[in-house]
Amino acid sequence: MTIAENSAIDNGHSDLFNHDSFANGIPHKTFARLRKEDPVSWTDGDDTAKGFWNLTRHADISLANKESQIFSSARGIRIEDQSYEEYLARRTFQETDAPEHSTVRRKVNPNFSRKTMGAFEPVIRELATDIVGKAIADKEFDAVRAIAKQLPMLMLGRILGVADEDLEWLVEKGDALIGNTDPDFTDHVIDKIDTSAYRMMPFRSPAGAELYDYASDLLHGRRPLAENSILDVMKRDEDGLDELAFKNFFCLLVAAGNDTTRYSIAMALNLLAHDKQLFAHLKSGDYWDTCADEFIRLASPTMHFRRTATEDYQLHGKTIRKGDKVLLWFVSGSRDEAVFERPDDVILDRKPNRHLAFGQGGAHVCLGRYLAKLEVQLVLQELVKRVDSLEAIEPPEWARSNFISGVKKLNVRVKLV
Ligand code: HEM
Repeated sequence: MTIAENSAIDNGHSDLFNHDSFANGIPHKTFARLRKEDPVSWTDGDDTAKGFWNLTRHADISLANKESQIFSSARGIRIEDQSYEEYLARRTFQETDAPEHSTVRRKVNPNFSRKTMGAFEPVIRELATDIVGKAIADKEFDAVRAIAKQLPMLMLGRILGVADEDLEWLVEKGDALIGNTDPDFTDHVIDKIDTSAYRMMPFRSPAGAELYDYASDLLHGRRPLAENSILDVMKRDEDGLDELAFKNFFCLLVAAGNDTTRYSIAMALNLLAHDKQLFAHLKSGDYWDTCADEFIRLASPTMHFRRTATEDYQLHGKTIRKGDKVLLWFVSGSRDEAVFERPDDVILDRKPNRHLAFGQGGAHVCLGRYLAKLEVQLVLQELVKRVDSLEAIEPPEWARSNFISGVKKLNVRVKLV
């Protein structure tokens, strides 16, 4: 494992329920031990959430992801237990199974296809050039704030079709949703204070209420929306989403389209800032077709999604009972030594790269994957074009969460070309 990823407090037995186990990086030693010794392991919960099963091997995660009638998304997709009322209030199409899921998915797919995203390439490149140019004007800066955060934020605006001047605000609210376990992102840290007043809001967060209001303004024409953007398409769809579903769909995109790509770019920057040789290899220009997937594999920012068993199921000698929560640890499957040679190393030309960071193989495979890969690739291209060396000047700071992992602060020094 490289120094840039060192998770100092992981002794191979980290508690996967505790957000603090992830506060210094991903507990890879624990995942490696579980893959080897206990591939279907149990983690206890507490009074706020019942315990859950962990699937950590690539093959088992892939199997469960395919068997969506047995491992259902329609009872919640995070560890939190929800009443049926809460589930109905907050669910998005990600929290449904076929056929309900497929109906919405078919409608939104064209806006996110490889072709549609490919057409954005010049826009992404222009934004990336501008972002990198501004960042490196200072020789020392926080690369997450100045680079990794910027591109996904600006592209989210283009995809949603909302005004650029609203983006900082939207991203701050999106961070408060996804970062609801980290005091740097919210005053309502869900395992520290009582958040029951917000139980009907996305991510049990007061930011959810503000995003709902914003979405409602878009829906009722009180804010401009670009023609043919994904929200415009969904708004005009006659047998489409009702008001609550539209608001939840909006919150899903603000949450999903942001930190994930930010943390993937941040992982790349973090690795590059700690390894001169890696930087030189990337700068050679020989790896653009494959490097984004490799950085995203190593980052695997949405570490897991949850399913719920709809019937009793036997796996590796354990009985998963109907109604039990089952976590698919994509972050672990993406480093499974049964599938990946030297899984903890960065191999820029890794091919094939069967990582699971996007939930590949399941009906819910990431909608934004083509966009995310392009963003990672193009921003790195612009960076190595302009910079001869990148060096970390302080240890990276990680987000505190058992759900989303990533470097939230990375102070670096650059030498320009
Ligand atoms: C590197 C960046 C990203 C990663 C690692 C990532 C990861 C994931 C994963 C693992 C899933 C599967 C969820 C499941 O199985 O339940 C997913 C689904 C999804 N992602 Fe991403 N994502 C990224 C970027 C994006 C972007 C940029 C967008 C939108 C602009 C996006 C929108 C979505 C949506 C809407 C879903 C739900 C799809 C469905 O349920 O059918 N993601 N993502």
